[in-house]
Order: sequence, then structure tokens, then C-alpha cells
Amino acid sequence: MFTQDEIKQQLGIYAADFIKNDMLIGLGTGTTVYYLLKELGKRKQQGLNFTAVCTSLQTQNILKEEGMNFISLDYVDRLQLAIDGADEVDENGSLIKGGGGALLQEKIVEAAADELIIIVDEKKNVKTLGAFPLPVEVITFGWKQVKQKIESAYNIKTRLREKDGKVYLTDHQHYILDCFFNTIPDPGQLNNDLHLMPGVVETGLFVDMANKIITGHSDGSITVRD
Ligand code: A5P
Repeated sequence: MFTQDEIKQQLGIYAADFIKNDMLIGLGTGTTVYYLLKELGKRKQQGLNFTAVCTSLQTQNILKEEGMNFISLDYVDRLQLAIDGADEVDENGSLIKGGGGALLQEKIVEAAADELIIIVDEKKNVKTLGAFPLPVEVITFGWKQVKQKIESAYNIKTRLREKDGKVYLTDHQHYILDCFFNTIPDPGQLNNDLHLMPGVVETGLFVDMANKIITGHSDGSITVRD
């Protein structure tokens, strides 16, 4: 039996094979992608040449440490490929992301990619999204209004995200409301509806974005869903 960390490590190494010489890529954020970044650091030393756009400061810092090249999305037209993790993946390949707080930049970078590959361990594959609390990034001004609006519109609880005893601020200086939907039968509709609420910057629902889901299993096998 593989531990969760071993599965993540295997996924990182497997996903690194999709990155070929001279590619322009988007690199995700999180504990699974961490292993991809470490592997890419090794391959860079062995001569693999690529340029990355990062989805967070966290990822950018790892790239710096590992001596990898990165540029701003503003100097790029399209990215050939992006690779990221996810918190949940449903049967249609819709995702919940943002457990690590980087949803806004992730969505912008990944929307600019011709292909999005998602790497997850088997526990993250679900029939219907929503058991994982949906992160919704909101402007700090008037955040309580948005919280109340979401709670009354959907009759659910939400929680302002905190970290180390302080309110969590995203890389773009916003707050995150974690929303306890429990079940999200129509992620596309919910994403659209939430976007209509003043103060909502982005949601962690990534619908019709992933082209390939790569799942790592506890028996050590890897399966690919296109
Ligand atoms: C970052 O905000 C997230 O979208 C991550 O990509 C997602 O939460 C998966 O992270 P882990 O690989 O750490 O579970």
C-alpha cells in the first residue's frame, strides 16, 4: 500500500513526462504539484529546458529555489500546457480547487492553456462535487454582505478562511469564504450564479477546463481519464 505522499510523488514524476523541451507551461499549486516541481527541478539540471508561468507565489518561490525559469503571464500569448492538482473531481471532470488558496491565479493561468492536466489521488474522485467546501474568493470590502447572500441564497453555512489564527489573505489580497454546499449537482450553473454576486472575485469551480485527469491509486497504479 502506498501512502498519500508516495502517491503524490509518483504522480509528480509521471506528470513531468508531459513537459517536453522548450515548452511554455503553467504550473499549479499544492502538495501534489510540489512533487512535480521537485522532479522538474531535477530534470532542469539534467538539461530539460522550459519556461513556466506560476499560479501562486508559493509555486514561484519553489521555482526560484530550484533554479527554474518563470515569466509573467503578461509576456505570454498562450501556454501549451498547464498541470495542477485539485480538491475534488466529479464524473464529468469538473473540479473544486482552491483548498490551498490559489484559485484566482490558477483559473486565469489555466484558462490560457491549450491543455490542462489534473493530478489527484484516488480519494479526490467523486460522483458529485461538494463534500469539499467550495472556496469562493471575495473582495475584503463588504465581505459580510457576500457571506450573508450566499448563506441565504443556498441555505448553507460558510466560513471566512483563517490561517494561523488570522484571516487568510490570498496572493491578490482577497478573502476566501469556504462554502459548505455538501452537494453541487450543476457546477456550471453555480459558478455562473456566484459570479453575479457583487464582491465575488472567483470561485473554485473549474468547469469544462480539465482535458486529462491522472489519478494515483493506493496500490501504486496510475489511471488516465481523457
Ligand atoms: C491550490 O489553491 C489548490 O487549487 C490546489 O491545486 C488543490 O487544493 C490541490 O492541492 P493538494 O495537491 O495540496 O491537495
